[in-house]
Amino acid sequence: MKTKTSSMKTNKILLSLTLALTFAQAAWALPNIKVLATGGTIAGAQTAQSDAGYKSGTFSVNDLIKAVPQLTNVAVLSGEQIANIGSQTMNHEVWLKLAARCNELLAQKDVDGIVITHGTDTMEETAYFLSLVVKSDKPVVLVGSMRPATAISADGPINLCNGVALAANPEAKGRGPLVVLNDTIHYAREAQKMHTTRMDTFQSPNRGIAGMMNTGKAFFYSMNTTRHNTKSEFSVAGLKTNDLPYVAIVYSHANLGGEMVDFLVSQGVKGIVLDGVGDGNTTDAALAALEKAAKQGVAVVRCSRTGSGVVDRNVEVNDDKLGFIAGMELSAQKARILLMLGLAKTNDPKQLQQYFVEY
Ligand code: DGL
Repeated sequence: MKTKTSSMKTNKILLSLTLALTFAQAAWALPNIKVLATGGTIAGAQTAQSDAGYKSGTFSVNDLIKAVPQLTNVAVLSGEQIANIGSQTMNHEVWLKLAARCNELLAQKDVDGIVITHGTDTMEETAYFLSLVVKSDKPVVLVGSMRPATAISADGPINLCNGVALAANPEAKGRGPLVVLNDTIHYAREAQKMHTTRMDTFQSPNRGIAGMMNTGKAFFYSMNTTRHNTKSEFSVAGLKTNDLPYVAIVYSHANLGGEMVDFLVSQGVKGIVLDGVGDGNTTDAALAALEKAAKQGVAVVRCSRTGSGVVDRNVEVNDDKLGFIAGMELSAQKARILLMLGLAKTNDPKQLQQYFVEY
């Protein structure tokens, strides 16, 4: 009898050891993914259950991870709270902190990728900034949601699942930061928020989407052929918020005068991005003020408020004569970022133009 009990005990111990070993092996085989949270609707709660209003950045990174238990089948996760804000208040300080943390983590052998949770309002800007200054080819994936966590059919959990699956996927390496929402994968340079509330708000209007997620699996449709990450010459190592040059955006419309440009110059602006009409155009008055600014050493970049297309040199505006830079495919909000990083290195308009061709 005694022998039977002790052999049952031994069996139980062996079974628990085997199970523990199996779990340990499974966890060991899974990629290590860091989740860096910055806030946004994905971490937002409705202000009242019946209310259309909600507050961004209510839940912490650990709440987000815990809400999707399926994530543990895909990766070993750990979270860090970088900020907890609505991304309309995203700023250079958070960008520098985020970029530095991405660089630190991705340099570690035991980190395979990063997921950044972020509000959708400025997600494309953060993604593009990181594509220029993160020095690693490991996957960095930005996810957000259009509906707060407490809403009916919240999209945060599925977007987070897709984000983690992408960050854990070796095929996502070398593509630069990716944005994933609504089962659609976008390259940082292409992604653009184009609708106030719809789930398919992100589009890649110029070069098209990077790929799709299908039941947790990634299908890539194209390569990212512009310079990014390890092929980028930009760096924010050791930079402080005030080291980034002051670059402003001027929105063009019928009857625009030159006074806004004159005011910015009087405030010491180093670069102006014109969010021009059509092919990067504007009124004669604004053009004259921009020409004056360029003559005083302000870098002037022409982009288009149309939302897609190329603004090339010397079409309706004589960039050679006026000393302007053509923004090529970049939206004004992304051109501001490239110009800021470019101006931290040079104020030669030819070199700045080259950046707009390559990045
Ligand atoms: N205020 C917005 C932001 O955090 C909410 C929109 C969103 O996250 O989708 O970007």
